[in-house]
Amino acid sequence: MDLIIAANWKMHKTATETREFCDSVIQNEKSFKGVEVLICPPFTALSAASAALKDSSVKLGAQNMHWEQQGAHTGEIAAPMLLEFGVEYVIIGHSERRHLMGEDDDQIRRKVNAALENNLKPILCVGETETEREQGLTERVIEKQLAGALGDLDLNKAENMVVAYEPVWAIGSGKAASEDDAENAAVLIRRYCLNNFGEKVVASLRIQYGGSVKVGNIHSFLALPSIMGALVGGASLEADSFRDLVQAARKAV
Ligand code: PGA
Repeated sequence: MDLIIAANWKMHKTATETREFCDSVIQNEKSFKGVEVLICPPFTALSAASAALKDSSVKLGAQNMHWEQQGAHTGEIAAPMLLEFGVEYVIIGHSERRHLMGEDDDQIRRKVNAALENNLKPILCVGETETEREQGLTERVIEKQLAGALGDLDLNKAENMVVAYEPVWAIGSGKAASEDDAENAAVLIRRYCLNNFGEKVVASLRIQYGGSVKVGNIHSFLALPSIMGALVGGASLEADSFRDLVQAARKAV
């Protein structure tokens, strides 16, 4: 299984900026071999990204989706709208959506199920806040988030899932988790999935680390036995820095 490096652009980049970034990044795609590279632009730039990436190996992801196929949900986006642009992955339950937009486990569970139902691969984000960590609740929080999101998972559809361990305090702070903490969380996630969903699901499960990943530290996370990729925010916004990041990741393969 390839490592998966995903760029989460959050609320950054217009369609024009997206086109420029994609044109620049695909010039180096030969040097990405062995790493699955994924760009998750805002919804408004999916069309531009899709056109720019269409002949390349770089894949497209969305940052969120609604669980219904269509309907009266002003401002929301449904899976069929993403599929039209060749979107393959969708980030679900990012901490900014949980904590800033009030997304709860029930909504996240519906989104995961809807993604799988539509053959989109979910990147489920889990991770504790700083306070939870200080209170020694990290493991309990991760298990609760996994149970909430994956509570009624359809095991026949749950292949190729990605779970991103993203401690909230590490996101955008410049303060990445330690290698031990990242590995411990990944082991916990894998064990939870094995115990609850069995070997078939775990065989194709990839666990990413996210939170202040940079060119200087990506290698140490990818060298960990249980980490198979990274979810990258800030360091994915400049084409040169993102290219360097993927090339650094490749050295870990
Ligand atoms: P960061 O964001 O790399 O800027 O810390 C990661 C994320 O939120 O996915």
